[in-house]
Parts: sequence; C-alpha cells; structure tokens
Amino acid sequence: MSDRKILVTSALPYANGPIHLGHLVEYIQTDIWVRFQKQRGNHCYFVCADDTHGTPIMLKADREGVTPEQLIAQVGKEHLADFTEFGVAFDNYHSTHSEENRTFSSLIYKRLRDAGHISSRTITQAYDPLKAMFLPDRFIKGECPKCAATDQYGDGCEVCGATYSPTELKNAVSAISGEKPIEKDSVHYFFNLADFTDMLSEWTKAGHLQAEVRNKLAEWLEGGLQQWDISRDAPYFGFEIPDAPGKYFYVWLDAPIGYMASFKNLCDKQGLDFEEFWAEDSTAELYHFIGKDIIYFHALFWPAMLSGAHFRTPSAIFAHGFLTVNGEKMSKSRGTFITARTYLEHLNPEYLRYYFAAKLSAGVDDIDLNFDDFSQRVNSDLVGKVVNIASRCSGFISKRFANILSANCSEPALFQELINANEQIAEFYEAREFGKAMREIMALADKANQYIDEKKPWLIAKQEDKDADLHDICSMGINLFRLLAVYLKPVIPALAESAESFLNIDSQAWPANAQPLLNHVINDFKPLMTRVEADKIAAIVEASKENLEKTTDKHSRVAHGSEKKFEPIADTIEFDDFAKLDLRIAKIIRANQVEGSDKLLQLTVDIGDETRNIFAGIKSAYNPEELEGKLTLVVANLAPRKMRFGCSEGMVLAAGPGDKDIWILSPDKGAVAGMRVK
Ligand code: MSP
Ligand code: ZN
Repeated sequence: MSDRKILVTSALPYANGPIHLGHLVEYIQTDIWVRFQKQRGNHCYFVCADDTHGTPIMLKADREGVTPEQLIAQVGKEHLADFTEFGVAFDNYHSTHSEENRTFSSLIYKRLRDAGHISSRTITQAYDPLKAMFLPDRFIKGECPKCAATDQYGDGCEVCGATYSPTELKNAVSAISGEKPIEKDSVHYFFNLADFTDMLSEWTKAGHLQAEVRNKLAEWLEGGLQQWDISRDAPYFGFEIPDAPGKYFYVWLDAPIGYMASFKNLCDKQGLDFEEFWAEDSTAELYHFIGKDIIYFHALFWPAMLSGAHFRTPSAIFAHGFLTVNGEKMSKSRGTFITARTYLEHLNPEYLRYYFAAKLSAGVDDIDLNFDDFSQRVNSDLVGKVVNIASRCSGFISKRFANILSANCSEPALFQELINANEQIAEFYEAREFGKAMREIMALADKANQYIDEKKPWLIAKQEDKDADLHDICSMGINLFRLLAVYLKPVIPALAESAESFLNIDSQAWPANAQPLLNHVINDFKPLMTRVEADKIAAIVEASKENLEKTTDKHSRVAHGSEKKFEPIADTIEFDDFAKLDLRIAKIIRANQVEGSDKLLQLTVDIGDETRNIFAGIKSAYNPEELEGKLTLVVANLAPRKMRFGCSEGMVLAAGPGDKDIWILSPDKGAVAGMRVK
C-alpha cells in the first residue's frame, strides 16, 4: 500500500454565523475524501479553523455587547460541535485569531515586503464620522444610481443588478449609524499581484486546477492582475501590520494563512514536521477544498503569496458548486435556510452525508437537495438495500446457529466479484467522483440482494435437512454486507462502525485483499438505520421558518421579551476584574428627548459628589417624565464616549431584549445616590 503524506483543508467558516447545510456540502465532501485516504493507509491530516477577523465580526460583537474574542470563542465552540456531530473529523480545528497565525501572517508579509512585492499609497474611502470608522461597501446603503431602488448596498443593486462604487449611491448613509458618510483619505498597503503574472499563468496551467476553474483563471489573467489592497484602518478586529501602527491585515490576507497556522498547531501537539509539508521543496501533497465563490483568493492570491514568501504552493485546489434546496437558492422565508443544528435536532446526519455523496462529482456544478429525492434515496439505498441484507440474514444466524458464521464460503466467485470492485470504487473516491462510487456500491448491493432473493433462505429455513444450506446462504449474505459497509465507510462512518460491532471485527481497512469471515462469531443484530420520516423533514422546514422569526430583529439576539431565551453566560472573570467596575447608585434628576435620535434619552444623573450627562438607549421603553426622580445604577468609571449628540459620561444599567422590554435597574429602599455598589 502506498504511503502518501497528505495535508487537506476545507475553507475556514466565518465566525459570525451558524453552519448551514450549504457549508456542509464542503465539509462533508472533504471529510469523505480524508476518511478514504486514511482507510487506504495514507498519512493524511485534515485541518480547519474559524475565520475570525474583519468588520462584520467586530460589529456583530458590538451589537451583542460582547468582545470579538468572546464572540469568536462561542461561535468556534458551536461550529466544532456541529461538525463533530455530522462526523466531520478534523485532525485539528483552530482559529485565525491565534499566535501561530499572527506569526505566519507577519512572516509572510515581511518576506513579501522585503522582496519588493508590497507598496503603499493613499486612497479615498467612505467614512462614518459618528462611528469613526471607514465603511466597507456592504455597510453603505442608499438609492441605486441606475433604477433608484431604495435601501441598496454600496457594491450593487439587488433590484436591477447594477454594480457600482459606493460613491455613486444617492442619499447614501452608513448602515451602522445611519449617518451620512464623508470621504476620507488614508494610506493603504497593497500586494503587487501583477509581479506574479508569469508564475500564475504557468501554475494555473500545470494540473493544479479543474478544467472549469482553469478557464476562469485564464480570463482573469488575460484581463490583467490588479494590486490587492491588504490593509484596513483601525478600528478593525485582526492583526496589526508589523511596521504600520493602526493598520491591520485585511481578513482575507490572514485567512488562508490560517491553514498553515492550524497545521502548525497540530504539529506542536503531535510532534509532526511542519517543514516537511510547507517548505518550498516539500514533496507532501497539499489540497484545499473550497466553494466556487472563493476561487480568486485560493487560485491567484494564495499561490502568489506562498511563492513570494518561499513556501510551497498547493498540489491542487478542489472547488465545488453551491447547494440549492428543492431547486432554489436557500431561503429563510421558505424554511430552506437550514442550519446544521436544526437538521441535527430532527434527522440522522448520515442520511445527509450519503445524499451529498450520491450527488457529488469532481466538478463545480451546483448540487440540489430535493427533499423527496433525499428520502427516497436514503430509504431505498441505505435502508432498503444495504442494511436490509444484514437484517434478512442475521435472524437465522442467531436463532439457528448461535451467531456463528458458516465455516464454508459457498459463493467464492460472488465474494471475489465484490472484492474486485475495490479498485474502481477507490478510483472514484480518489477522483472525488463520489456519486459514481455510490452507484457502483449500490450495484454491488443489488447483486447481494439478488443472491438472497434467488436462494430464498426464508423458504429453505422451513425445509428439513437444509440447515447447512441455510447457514451458508445467510453467512454469505453477512459477508457481502460486510464489504458494502467497508466501501461505504468514508461516507457513513457511524453506520460502518455499528456494522463492525455487529460483525465483531476490528476497524476495517480498505478491502483489497479481504478474506471472508468463516466460522466467526458475530453479535446480535440491532437495527442499524431507520427510514427517513416525512414528518421530520416538515418539522425541519417549520423550525427553520421559526429561526427566521427569531432573528428578524438583527440587532438583538433575543427578539421577543416573552420568549425566555437568554444569552449564554459570558466567560468567567476574576474578582479583580469585577473590582475595576465602579458602580454607583444614581438619581435621575432630568430626562430629555434627544432630537434626531430614535433610540436615546439624555439623562442628567446625580452620583453623589457630581452630576453626569448620560445618553441611554431606552427611549423605546420609557417616557422621560416617568424617569425623573428615580434611583438607578450607573457605571461611573466608564471612559466618556463622544456621540453625535454630545458626550456620554457613564452608563445606566438596564436589562431586557429591547423595544418596550427594557427595564432600568433600581436599588432597594434606603439606598442613596453616590453609594458604591459592591
Ligand atoms: N471565510 C471564508 C473562507 C476563508 S478560507 C481561507 C468563507 N467562509 S464561509 O463561511 O462563507 O464559507 C465557507 C465555505 O463554505 C466556502 O468554501 C463556501 O464556498 C462554502 N459555502 C458557503 N455556502 C455554501 C453553499 N450554499 N453551498 C456550498 N458551499 C457553500 O468563505
Ligand atoms: Zn438598481
């Protein structure tokens, strides 16, 4: 058996949302391929990480009132739990917000800079004066310059499909603050991609890419390569550029470097040799599985960055298409935007693994999850053809033969036929033609079932003196089932493992030379998989529509006050952290409306020795009059914050999901303004 050294990655999911079935196309595809490689005896490592940097994650944390670090820690845990339950078995799951990634990002940047591949110049961009930050195109909204549709993003119109630059939007506002953006200059750093034009035109033709992808790249290369803007100004959640204070690496610079960082983290844990996989002259294989939307980053920027920084380039990029559900784009309102978690609450994850495998090829075509087709395939293939063989034969083996298989292989030719198929099946797996592999395996399952149908053990069982025949037939059936289970093992590992315990055998390697189990004791059969029930699918769609209702209020994790769903408890802090907070009893002396703000009230509060001016986002819940004279709690040592309407010198404590459901906290009787809360 060969002894290849293979490093495999899936794209790093963004840490600002849950894993959904679209993502799973990729992670399941990669996992099947990796499991296959391992089963073949190759040294294969599968690494991934959460992609944690960038503006959307920073703003989301802000909205949820947590730090980006807290947000990514929580989301990272949820992602890994989802993957694990779907059987996606990473050798390492890391984070791009890691020391390893900081180190490699700096190193690669410095090498590129020292080789003259980085330049800087001043550019003008939209800027939110209230939030004091530059606005990515997606965070500017306004009227489409072509069709005048309102509420369109800065990069393109969803109504007429026009693309434009954000400065062309009419009546543009910042989607974060509602403020009118101004134009502001700042120095940006660029990666000179054009320096790598020759290298890339060679690399893209040298067998590292699928044909469709190669053609796309040829077009891009012909169009000429532009400089790539790799810096963003503070505030930005990411890594500061080593020689440029206040400038951060754009998330897409450090994201693919996250592949290296996750692998380095694994090397440190397991004593593997990092250089063996990443040095410029490495002979190990390196594969990136990605969706077709991120080809540009992986097939142009990434090989150029690696080559400019003297690391090896990928052996291949494997791009796949997008998931549609019932023939349409996943849609929240139709209930087809299904999260991994919602699926797991209702259905066996191996159904989906098998279904995706049955639909996947080596190409970049989109794949469709059709619910009727899904139930039908799983029920007829896995339950009806594969598991059924074991259940048909095992009853007799247990009742009549004390769970011992026959000492005789009655149909060696049939057994050999299933073994001989191993090479073709392996070729299909290797080439990511999983659909073809599944069809081949199901054709073998059909043969096994035909054999049982012809021999009719249920009739033989009623005849006298036919015990030996019955024993042989059922034992043969079990031996054929065993081969089907091993061929399907990369796709449905949990079922294959249950089959191994039923068969009372060790974990099965690829069966190139497998021998039949003779005179072998097996265990009692337990149902290995049940049929897909239609009502479970309906329940998933229903629950996915409910998810939508819960998330319509984008600015709060909890949409309705009546619904008792609370945010998770934040990370533990030490007493010293708590002691830093100076909480005071405060008396609200005056409360006023704030002109131009639909959220804020302006409060003047007495905190003992001084009065403070505080803006509180409680307008939706309180009339100013009802607040005057009330005692409440205030964070007195919060750094003052400049807002559009003035400076806020502290924070009033309140609880609740939002809108009318916000309650300011108040002390018990006897408390007096100025007392410190301890
Ligand atoms: N964070 C980037 C990848 C950085 S890799 C250095 C990203 N994240 S993502 O969460 O948006 O997507 C992760 C992967 O899932 C991507 O390869 C993407 O193509 C894939 N998919 C996301 N939605 C998908 C479908 N609906 N269908 C199939 N794949 C999809 O991109
Ligand atoms: Zn338009």
